Amino acid sequence: MNEVTRAANHIQSLAGTEKPAMAIVLGSGLGDLAAQISDPVEIPFDQLEGFPVSGVSGHCGAVICGYLGGARVMLLSGRVHYYEQGDASAMRAPIATLAELDCPVLTLSNAAGSTRQDMAPGSLMAINDHIDWSGRNPLIGAQGDQRFVDMKDAYDPALRARLQLISEDQGHDLQSGVYAWFSGPSFETPAEIRMIRMLGADAVGMSTVPETILARYHGMKVVAVSAITNYAAGMSNESLSHSHTKTQADKLKPRFIRLITGFAGSFA
Ligand code: HPA
Repeated sequence: MNEVTRAANHIQSLAGTEKPAMAIVLGSGLGDLAAQISDPVEIPFDQLEGFPVSGVSGHCGAVICGYLGGARVMLLSGRVHYYEQGDASAMRAPIATLAELDCPVLTLSNAAGSTRQDMAPGSLMAINDHIDWSGRNPLIGAQGDQRFVDMKDAYDPALRARLQLISEDQGHDLQSGVYAWFSGPSFETPAEIRMIRMLGADAVGMSTVPETILARYHGMKVVAVSAITNYAAGMSNESLSHSHTKTQADKLKPRFIRLITGFAGSFA
């Protein structure tokens, strides 16, 4: 038995064997969604073989199994970022474990900076494609032909359309755009933002892309939402900091929680 099977078995021994309708990875400052989970069973990452332990404030590592909007979900609170250890595959074991548990959908979230004047802080953006500007890939070292993952429609078009409808029903615009992954942890420079805007990015951030690649490798469908916490570097007079990201994410949280709860409910 390998570590992924052992982690999956451990989760099932504590939380039961009901198949999750989806899993959710929470971004910076968006951890409060965990409080919305009913009948929660919380399993800290350090009890699960191969799971990473994050040191970033605003992230505390645990798998929370329960119900959201009536659907069976698994929430991963506390992702580990590439910039923590220089390891693009830091989330390899958690994503592989979700696949082992037969979880069909992975919903990713993050805080991000907008490169578009017409997408102000306070917006939510469904990611429709990405640019892997870090040049890293979590599948480096993986064996077999399965590693040559097709990344067209990596962000599932039908599920994005569903998310859009749910947002409209809730009375909110949901932006749609391309997310560019920068390694961090320093923020981008204004020159980098001018460059990446020319290359087609609508938002920039330090996460999500490795999890998307890993999830597609395992055949899971992916949906991803960026909470736009700021204009990207050089676009406003504001200086960027992690505390600014968390404060702004806090303001978006109620809308984010409603949207994701509504989305989960569509699987119930
Ligand atoms: N850049 C990178 N990551 C981010 C940003 C940003 O402007 N805002 C929130 N996370």
